[in-house]
Amino acid sequence: MKVAIVGATGLVGSVMVKVLEERTFRVTEFLPVASKRSVGRDVSFRGRTYKVIGMDEAIAAKPNIVLFSAGSATSMEWAHKFAGVGAVVIDNSSAWRMHPDIKLVIPEINANQIRKKDRIIANPNCSTIQMLMALYPLHKKYGISRIVVSTYQAVTGTGMKAVEQLMNERKNIKSEPVYPYPIDLNVIPHIADFNEEGYTKEEMKMKEETQKIFDDKKIKITATCVRIPVVGGHSESVNVEFKKDFKIEDVRRILSDTKGVVLQDDFRHNKYPMPLYVQGKDDVFVGRLRRDNSQAKTLNMWIVADNLRKGAATNAVQIAEYMVAKKLI
Ligand code: A2P
Repeated sequence: MKVAIVGATGLVGSVMVKVLEERTFRVTEFLPVASKRSVGRDVSFRGRTYKVIGMDEAIAAKPNIVLFSAGSATSMEWAHKFAGVGAVVIDNSSAWRMHPDIKLVIPEINANQIRKKDRIIANPNCSTIQMLMALYPLHKKYGISRIVVSTYQAVTGTGMKAVEQLMNERKNIKSEPVYPYPIDLNVIPHIADFNEEGYTKEEMKMKEETQKIFDDKKIKITATCVRIPVVGGHSESVNVEFKKDFKIEDVRRILSDTKGVVLQDDFRHNKYPMPLYVQGKDDVFVGRLRRDNSQAKTLNMWIVADNLRKGAATNAVQIAEYMVAKKLI
């Protein structure tokens, strides 16, 4: 497989390189791609050094797979051009996620919808992926009617410049801010633009992407997305109401048996997931499971994952692996 990574010098792109490196994915040719600014820079992959190339050169190379993480505008402009030379594009931006003809895929949930004609596949939003990884096995068993989620999102979700802002604030160095307010020692209840009603784009993504991936427009979802001064790892407080009642022991068993989900739930021994401990891991971690005693058939849970791994790079690479295994590429 000739694999290109567009945005290979960025935060998600460099994790894509690392994830590809770690897995057994067969790569016969590796093409790191970025903007003109970075052409000629070195990127190492499986013990060799490669020079970053530009978009035109990457298209001319006719890759089989292109993992894209260079922002929505770049995806909008370039994804079809890559698809036009026969590549399968797996796009981490929000550009194509809600397009009716484009599949929005978490492999553990809905990869079986991918067909040979699908040449652009959308990778969901990081907060959506980790939430649905934990909710899907419960949804299958009990049927979800409503989700109330509050997120605690790390600055790596914004990109390299956001990490710089946090680090510079810590060292008292003045630099161009990415967020409208200081992020260190603060909490900002504002991720992406607001709509007329006062919801942010991130909050709307969680709602719309969940309904698309679960293929169920009736599921009610309300979200509050918050940026916190954590470098990596998103956390979520999720309150979920089911159609059928559950036993908490069964919920525990189902989550323990779910591939890609790790249960860390032992309050008596202060055991629960935290962002500091999930970095570099591909799984989604779940804890603080407890019945919501204020309402029937309702569960509280706490979900944490590395937003650059399962929330972005790992999910994209898993889509590629699935498509290769099923001979869709
Ligand atoms: P570059 O490093 O040359 O700017 P992050 O999300 O961490 O900010 O990274 C964004 C990634 O997307 C970087 O690798 C960046 O390259 C790349 N990128 C941004 N704009 C373009 C573009 N127009 N064409 C190709 N790559 C781009």
